[in-house]
Amino acid sequence: MSHRIGRLHNFSAGPGALPLPVLEDVRDELPVYRETGASVMEISHRSPAYMQIEASARERIRNLLGLTADWHILFLGGGASMQFHQVALNFLPPGGQAGYLVTGTWAKKAHAEALRIGNGRVVASSADAAFNYVPDPAHWDLDPQDAYIHFTSNNTVYGTQFHYTPNVSCPLVCDASSDFLSRPIELERYGLIYAGAQKNIGPAGVTVVLVRNDFLEKRNTSLPTMLDYGTHAAKCFNTPPVFAIYIVEKVLRWLEGAGGIPGIQAMNRRKADLLYGAIDNSEFYRGTAETESRSLMNVTFRLAKEELEATFVDQAAGHGLVALKGHRSVGGMRASIYNACSLESVEVLVDFMKEFERRNG
Ligand SMILES: Cc1ncc(COP(=O)(O)O)c(C=O)c1O
Repeated sequence: MSHRIGRLHNFSAGPGALPLPVLEDVRDELPVYRETGASVMEISHRSPAYMQIEASARERIRNLLGLTADWHILFLGGGASMQFHQVALNFLPPGGQAGYLVTGTWAKKAHAEALRIGNGRVVASSADAAFNYVPDPAHWDLDPQDAYIHFTSNNTVYGTQFHYTPNVSCPLVCDASSDFLSRPIELERYGLIYAGAQKNIGPAGVTVVLVRNDFLEKRNTSLPTMLDYGTHAAKCFNTPPVFAIYIVEKVLRWLEGAGGIPGIQAMNRRKADLLYGAIDNSEFYRGTAETESRSLMNVTFRLAKEELEATFVDQAAGHGLVALKGHRSVGGMRASIYNACSLESVEVLVDFMKEFERRNG
């Protein structure tokens, strides 16, 4: 028998940790899913057994967020990066314009894709300070001509997050990949919300897209079939990423058991307070994001003695605390504490941080 280690305290930024009961459930349903005589990966996406899973996932998202019937819930492939392009293709009108809040790596990429299609204006940017803050709305360059304003609700790489819904006169389009279903969404202000599943709600391979019908109707016509949101809103056009959707459905059930959005939001706040508290109460650690913009999902920090950072990451791994190295573009440390990261994992991390400081401070 091969040697197996147990599960570690996983702070991966994405794909991120999944709830253990979900993984166990998946294991129990392999290689045979219920009465189908095959695994869920091996049955038709038009079979009643699979269609029930997808309908259940859709219904659970609808209930968790309070989506009314005029919202379509799509499960698409291509990752969140595909949405950067698809959003602009559908909603940037020829000869028109859309606004972009450029607050980090992914926001910048979304903006770059818009520029390939048309006039994506920068409404505000925090590039001047290495994206360590969310720009103050008082200084945004808003224009009533914008077809939409695109923003990234949580900036995974830099550890910043919008703690309010942008107040603008046109519909919002949001990349919520790294904080989707971690808190409520003020739906009235949005036209479209998308999220790659692999941080908060499932494995890689599926991107959830929520699009409101009146916004959808404004899309450009004559688009390639697969890139037209209307195709997917109208029917199941092609084979969806069935296995990823199947796991998302289980994560949604788990989330309901954790108290739904209010329950998970309170827990996320507790975890973040604990970790930021440990950083703020020490001279040894330093948070890299401005306090008001700090993310509840990705906690980015450095050591006062930067030369000790590699040792910190190594020794943390020795304590079963993994994936703490910051994104390669920024360095330092990043603890991603998405929905499925337990309070216990954060407590173990904070204990380790205190101990590391005692030995090296
Ligand atoms: C906020 C955000 N948007 C987009 C992406 C890119 O997602 P994908 O790899 O699914 O294209 C990421 C990935 O880390 C992300 O954090």
